[in-house]
Order: sequence, then C-alpha cells, then structure tokens
Amino acid sequence: AEATSRTGKRVLLAKPRGYCAGVDRAVQTVEEALKLYGAPIYVRKQIVHNKHVVQTLEARGAIFVEENEEVPEGATVIFSAHGVAPEVYEQARERSLKAIDATCPLVTKVHQEAKRFAAEDYDILLIGHEGHEEVIGTAGEAPAHIQLIDGPEDADRVTVRDPEKVVWLSQTTLSVDETLETVARLKKRLPLLQSPPSDDICYATSNRQHVVKQIAPECDVMIVVGSRNSSNSVRLVEVAVDAGSRTGHLVDFAHEIEDAWLEGAHTVGLTSGASVPDELVQDVLAHLAARGFADVEEVTTANERLTFSLPQELKRDMRAAA
Ligand code: F3S
Repeated sequence: AEATSRTGKRVLLAKPRGYCAGVDRAVQTVEEALKLYGAPIYVRKQIVHNKHVVQTLEARGAIFVEENEEVPEGATVIFSAHGVAPEVYEQARERSLKAIDATCPLVTKVHQEAKRFAAEDYDILLIGHEGHEEVIGTAGEAPAHIQLIDGPEDADRVTVRDPEKVVWLSQTTLSVDETLETVARLKKRLPLLQSPPSDDICYATSNRQHVVKQIAPECDVMIVVGSRNSSNSVRLVEVAVDAGSRTGHLVDFAHEIEDAWLEGAHTVGLTSGASVPDELVQDVLAHLAARGFADVEEVTTANERLTFSLPQELKRDMRAAA
C-alpha cells in the first residue's frame, strides 16, 4: 500500500477553508443592498480582498471607490469588512451618505478593545501589517495611544510611556505563530505587557492555519487560492512552507497554476483564504484532476458554524420594504 500511495497522485483538501462568517456577511450585505435599493451601490474599498468577488459584484452594479469623496452626495455607501476609522463615518455624515457598515463584528471587537484601553490611558501596541486597511481603521480609534508593531523586529525597538500600563492588540488575520514570537519579544522588553481580553486573531484565521499545518508536511506543493492583497491568504502560503510543504503558491484562479509546479509532485495540498468563494477551489480541483490529481482526500480539523446577522441599518430597511 505504501508503494502505491507514493506513486499515486493525490490532493489533500483542507477544511475549514474559504469563506468565514465575516466575509459571507459582507458579500451578502452588498448583494442585499443591490436588491433593495437598486444599482449603483457604492462600496468604500474592496468589500473583501478577493478579485473574483469584487469583479462579480461590479458586474451587478456595485461601484468600488477608495474614499467617500468619490460617492455622490446622498448616495448609499457600504464600508468593507476590514473596518474604518471613526473619521470615515463623520465624512459620510457630512456628505449625507447613507452608510451601511459591513465591518466584521470580530474586527469591531478589536476596535472596542482599542477604545477601552485608550480611555484608560494605556499605551497600545497594535501588531499588524503597515498599510493594511484593518490596521488603519483600528489605529484610527485612538491614534495618540496606538503604535504599530509590524513583525518581531519592530518589537525590539518599541518604547512606551509607562511599562506597567501597556497592552498588545492585533490585526485579525495574522500568522498565529509569528504573532506569538512577536509577543514573546515584546515581553522581553516589557514584562508587564498585558494581553488582549480575548484572542484578536479570529477563529477563521487560526482554523485555516491549523489545518494547513496539519497537511503541509505531506505536501510537495501547497496551492492557496486567494488574492495578493488578502492578508490571511498570503499567511497561509507562509504557514504551509514553514510547516514543511516543499513549495507554496498563491493563485486567484486555476489557470494561473503552472504545470512546472506539479512536475514530480505526488501530493498537492489545497486550501483557500477567508475571502474566497468555494467555486474557485472547485475550479482548481478540476484543473488538477485533468493533470492526473484526481484522488482527493478532504482533511477536516474543525467544523465552523458561526454566522453573523446582516448590519442593523440594512435589516431595518429590508423589514420596511417587506
Ligand atoms: Fe472576520 Fe476573521 Fe473573516 S475577522 S472577516 S471572521 S477573517
């Protein structure tokens, strides 16, 4: 059996993968808004960081903009799953926009932690990737109290006002292991550093990394479906290679897979980021099957049942229209 399984080509399909509860809610928010108010609906920033999702919604009448200024006065604007700084709500009010907030509730939770610790005058060390929309939004809650820590190296340079009154918070989509390393390095300098009241890295991020770590040691290639600007997708490739997959690649679509990647490979691992619809993974499975990788084994390490209800402001209008 050993000999045949070594020569046979197979796919290890990770589960959980793909859509998390926050992405599902954000995409549904745009779809329901299009139905309810009609096109066009403006969306500030990519609703979720996935090329296919954005293109599909665009075709149905969503207009993606970078800032509120690009939205006509009085129009409807949806804020993306990554969250926004308080000033973005103010700008929307000034332009009389009808704002619908699709921020993931688990991002909102981090905003609330930031506000609470800032109100108690803590120094807040926000672990996250510079320039990422989520980090800009969270930091915007308390710019005077928050410093960004972008990776373990930044930890060695940090200075705070009072080493007895400092807490770390994080972006929701980081590498779990790298964040632990960053925190350990911060604690060397700041032994009294407090941890967030509950995990800021969300369940979806850690579950997707956990299953990838499980299958990576058996993989010659790990294919992660996801977009370049998707933090959690990019992390999955890093986690796979760290955990022993010989190679790792990020693709938006099946046709981006190069035959050279599969040459000599026995086992291909496959997963997708939290913003990726499963049809894109099914396309990859068909692409792999056509190249001899037809034997698919799904490896499940957790069952996710969490769902979030739609934003209140949208639900209210849906009820009124019913
Ligand atoms: Fe929310 Fe985590 Fe998804 S923060 S949007 S559940 S990746």
